[in-house]
Amino acid sequence: MKDKILITGANGQLGSVLTKKLQDTYGITNVIATDIKLNANFKGTFEFLDTTDYNSIATIIKEHNITEIYHMAAILSAKGETNPLHTWNINNNTFLNILEAARLFGIKKVFYPSSIAVYGKNAPKNETPQDFFLTPTTVYGMSKAAGEHWANYYFLKYNLDVRSLRYPGVIGYQTSPGGGTTDYAVDAYHYAIKGENYTCFLNETSVLPMIYMDDAIRATLELMNASKAQIKTRTSYNIASMSFNPKALEHAICELIPHFKMIYKPDFRQDIADSWPNSINDNEARTDWNWQPKYDLKAMTVDMIKNLKETYKPENA
Ligand code: SER
Repeated sequence: MKDKILITGANGQLGSVLTKKLQDTYGITNVIATDIKLNANFKGTFEFLDTTDYNSIATIIKEHNITEIYHMAAILSAKGETNPLHTWNINNNTFLNILEAARLFGIKKVFYPSSIAVYGKNAPKNETPQDFFLTPTTVYGMSKAAGEHWANYYFLKYNLDVRSLRYPGVIGYQTSPGGGTTDYAVDAYHYAIKGENYTCFLNETSVLPMIYMDDAIRATLELMNASKAQIKTRTSYNIASMSFNPKALEHAICELIPHFKMIYKPDFRQDIADSWPNSINDNEARTDWNWQPKYDLKAMTVDMIKNLKETYKPENA
């Protein structure tokens, strides 16, 4: 039987880029993209899906003979704090619906995105070990930590092949920022291209783990395409790429856009950033399925600016 992929949150920051990659890999007709809103430029098969409703998930799985699920629908850290109970409902109850449907319909593999937000202030700041205990202080981090344990539970109890990555802050040119604390970095590039200065909501010394979109998407597919025997972590794998603070980003952008300036006005998101690691240790991913990042800050900046210049050309804007 052919692989038939269901992706939720297909209009999101990561979901929309992942959807295109999955379409290229599995064929456009074999990817069923779902979200609560339709993006006008979307190409492919799209279904409206509210994943808080189990029956709607079940209907789509049956109608399309789904074999794999990527559950990308979620509310990110900063936005999540504005309505904690709603965030918990969206991030957790939807995942339980997906896990239960996957179990009952014999889905072969499930992907679950987790985050550096699962760590809390007590964790070592640098090279945070994957297995350090988790004391998140945002509802987003709490929901992702709980989700990781549910993933592990469904694997242990039902042998459901759930795989997960803890993404650092994801930076890409393809989509707009989606309410995360690391999204200052995406915003900064957009302002720089428009010839404007950027007011950053973190202070200039806040070092956070980051990853370029291309690396994040490649890691996702490499994890999902690894053999079952290679996957030894069933909560979630740390993946690391680069770490920098806003000042270093400002300098990197200035190399190519010399007049660009960042102004620093920390708000409530500073507390969130302060509770997360500066860098994470990803030895397990490197050992188990050969994870290797390709982009550093300089290479990412060159590629971001090249692509955003295209996006902002008058004929494309
Ligand atoms: N990028 C996410 C956020 O800032 C972290 O996983 O919320």
